[in-house]
Amino acid sequence: MQLDAFAAIALDDLRASGLLRQLRSIDGPQGSCIVVDGREVANFSSNDYLGLANDPLLREAATRAIERYGVGAGASRLVCGNLAPYAELEKQLAVFKGKEAAVVFGSGYAANVGTICALVGKGDTIILDKLDHASIVDGARQSGATIRVYPHGDLNKLEKLLKAASEGISPAANRKAGKMPALPGNGRVLIVTETVFSMDGDIAPLREIAELKDRYGAWLMIDEAHATGLYGQQGRGVAEALGVEDRIDVTLGTLSKALGCAGGFVCGSRALVDLLVNRARSLIYSTALPPATVAAASAAVQFVMSDGGHARRAQLWQRVGELRNALNLQSRSDTPPAPSPVMNRRDACPALPSTIIPLLLGDEARAVECSRQLFERGFFVPAIRFPTVARGAARLRLTVTAAHTSEQIRALIEALSGTNR
Ligand SMILES: Cc1ncc(COP(=O)(O)O)c(C=O)c1O
Repeated sequence: MQLDAFAAIALDDLRASGLLRQLRSIDGPQGSCIVVDGREVANFSSNDYLGLANDPLLREAATRAIERYGVGAGASRLVCGNLAPYAELEKQLAVFKGKEAAVVFGSGYAANVGTICALVGKGDTIILDKLDHASIVDGARQSGATIRVYPHGDLNKLEKLLKAASEGISPAANRKAGKMPALPGNGRVLIVTETVFSMDGDIAPLREIAELKDRYGAWLMIDEAHATGLYGQQGRGVAEALGVEDRIDVTLGTLSKALGCAGGFVCGSRALVDLLVNRARSLIYSTALPPATVAAASAAVQFVMSDGGHARRAQLWQRVGELRNALNLQSRSDTPPAPSPVMNRRDACPALPSTIIPLLLGDEARAVECSRQLFERGFFVPAIRFPTVARGAARLRLTVTAAHTSEQIRALIEALSGTNR
C-alpha cells in the first residue's frame, strides 16, 4: 500500500471515531484572550498559570539574551551549547527548589525520558500511577525496566507492587552491603508519579507514597510540571505544600507551564545531577535550548521567589476559587461534576486546589461538540480525548490562570450553562 493511501485510511478511522486532531492556528502572545483561527476568544486552555508567557520581565530578559548571545545555542550542551545563562538558571533552580543541584533539559518530555532511562534499566522495576503523563510512560518503556502500574492513587496496589519487587533483589539490602552497582539492571525500584495530574487536576498522596518507598527501599521521582511555581509558601510545588521535600529522590519540573517559557529540569543531589549530565541521552544528544528561553526562565524563577510571585499566586488561587465555586465543586480540587471511571480514587488525594478543572463528558464526539459550542460563544476550551485520556473519558479541560478576570470567569460559566453538556 502506498504511504499516502495508508495515511488517508488511518485519518478516516480517527475521524469516524471522533479522535481526529487538527492544529488550530493561534495568533499573538499567550494571555487570557488569544486569537484562534482569526477570532479573539477567552483562553481557558493554557498552562501559563501565572500569566508569565508574555510578561515584560521575561520579554526583556529574552531580548537582552538575544542581543548578547544570538538565537541558537549551536550544539548540545556537552559539545558547545553550554552558555552562561544555563549555569545561572541551574543555580537559581537549585536554590528555588531547595536542592543541591539542578540540570535543565530541552523540554519536560525530554527531562522525563532522559532521567528515567539514566536511572533504571533491564532488571530494574519502575512503578507508575495509571494516569502518569505520556513522557513518563515513554521513558519507562525506553528504559527496558519492568513496568508495573497501579490504578490511579491506589496505595494498596502500590504497596503490593513494591512488596513483589522487593522480594526480588532489594536495593536497600544492596546498599547496606555496599553493593550499589553503578549500572542499571540490578533490581532497583523507582516509583514515578505526577504531583498534580495533568488531565484530572487531582493531587498525588505524596506523604503516603514517601512512607511506602522508604519502607520498601525504593526511589521516588516526582513530576511537578503542573505544581512548580504554584504550591507551598515558596511556590516550590506540592512536595513543599505537603512537607515531604526531603523524602523525594528526584524532583522534575518544567519551565513551560507556570514559568511561562519552555524546557524541563531535574533537581536533587549533586551526584544525581552529575549522573544525568553523563547518562541522560535526551540531554547529551540534543541541541541546547535557545539562550533567550533560558534567560527568560531565570527571570521567571526570580519572579516566582519574589513578593510579586506571592501576590500572583494569591491572585491565581482567588480565580480558581471563583470558578470552582461557580461550578459548585466542593473543596476538593478534583471532584468532577459527573461520575467517571477514572475518578474513583479520590479518598487518598490531599485536599489541595488545582488550576486544572476537568468537566467529564465521556463520549468523544460530545466533548468535541461541546468545545465547538463554547468556541462559538467566544471561549477556547479544548476537548481532551483518547489517547490522552482513556476511551470514553473525554472531557473539557478548563485551566485557570492569574491573568483571567472575574468577569471572564462569570462569562464562561454562563456559556457553559448554554452548551449541551
Ligand atoms: C505531567 C507532565 N509532565 C511532563 C510534561 C512535558 O513537559 P513539556 O511540555 O515541557 O515537554 C507535561 C506537559 O504536557 C506534563 O503535563
